[in-house]
Amino acid sequence: MYLPKLIEQARKISKKAYAPYSNFHVGAAFLTTKEKIYSGCNVEFSDYLALHAEVNAIGTAVNEGDTDIHLVVVYSYSSPPVLPCGSCRQKLYEFAQLHKHDIKVIAVNNKEERIEMMLSKLLPGGEIQANKKN
Ligand code: THU
Ligand code: ZN
Repeated sequence: MYLPKLIEQARKISKKAYAPYSNFHVGAAFLTTKEKIYSGCNVEFSDYLALHAEVNAIGTAVNEGDTDIHLVVVYSYSSPPVLPCGSCRQKLYEFAQLHKHDIKVIAVNNKEERIEMMLSKLLPGGEIQANKKN
């Protein structure tokens, strides 16, 4: 079972978040079809344009040439646990579309609260944006 592993990785990387402006620490961990895990934390800058944990993890997956993501875990310290924002939902949709399958998103926190939703439900119509040339 990969879920406990994914949650642990998301929790671990959330500790590395660089968030001096918001103090809101987030970790994201992805599981791909190859059963590889990629993760990322949020990174903030003085222009307030933060790199979201999910986008950092997407960068890592792309760097490794493995974007066939089917499970996303987002770890935060808020209640309820934070789900990917609209922009991150669209960015994740890119790869759902590319690999022709939906992605399960699970938001968790340090209070063992959990929200589980499919990406297609989190972003209705997302396939229209993501479906460019194919
Ligand atoms: N953040 C993420 O990294 N992912 C989310 O799903 C929600 C928000 C970050 C961005 C910013 O650094 C901080 O959390 C506060 O919004
Ligand atoms: Zn986001």
